[in-house]
Amino acid sequence: MKKIIGFLVTSAILVFITLSSGAYNMAATEKHWAITEKIIAWVRNNSIEARAKEQQVPAMDNEWIRLQGAEHYSAMCTICHLAPGMQPTELSLGLYPQAPKFFERAPIKDQTEKLERAKAYFWVIKNGLKMTAMPAWGLSHDDDSIWAIAAFVLELNAMTPEQYRQIIQTAQDNSHDHAHQGHRHE
Ligand code: HEC
Repeated sequence: MKKIIGFLVTSAILVFITLSSGAYNMAATEKHWAITEKIIAWVRNNSIEARAKEQQVPAMDNEWIRLQGAEHYSAMCTICHLAPGMQPTELSLGLYPQAPKFFERAPIKDQTEKLERAKAYFWVIKNGLKMTAMPAWGLSHDDDSIWAIAAFVLELNAMTPEQYRQIIQTAQDNSHDHAHQGHRHE
């Protein structure tokens, strides 16, 4: 027993000395070991799943919601997550962990998977993810806007660059009309 305690105390002291000397490299360019990455992904996925599953998914198949989601996505997310037809940005290149490209994800198999993904996306968009660059948009956006964004993210994996360009164009024209209702000059 004494030996075990001695070993644990010595290990703790060695870890403390190593870490306080600055030996651990916090640089984003210095990747974790593959095993560490796997453990982080496992912890993250379990954490998201446990919190997301209780949520009620509202109806999302409505054109207005779709356009609202599209507009928010193009304004707030593409700098890190990119979009169909978009080249990496200076910001996206430097991220570690990298922001996933939703338009490169495998197609959704069925309704169950769609609902699961919608819940997970909603939860992450609202709450953000610790120690990554993923912000918590729930501090500045209500749940309706966040469901709209989650619904749009779900659609991205089946979208061509041309379809993406068109929907963003329509969304922007719409919000322009909206903003200028009643006092348009043209
Ligand atoms: C400053 C960069 C940045 C911005 C802006 C950003 N994200 Fe992220 N996001 C990240 C990073 C980095 C991750 C990956 C975190 C990880 O690997 O654990 C991430 C993860 C996510 C995830 C979980 C990924 C998964 O595997 O399912 C979702 C969903 C997401 N972001 C959606 C969005 C949406 C929608 C927006 C815009 C409203 C957005 N993000 C804006 C950086 C960003």
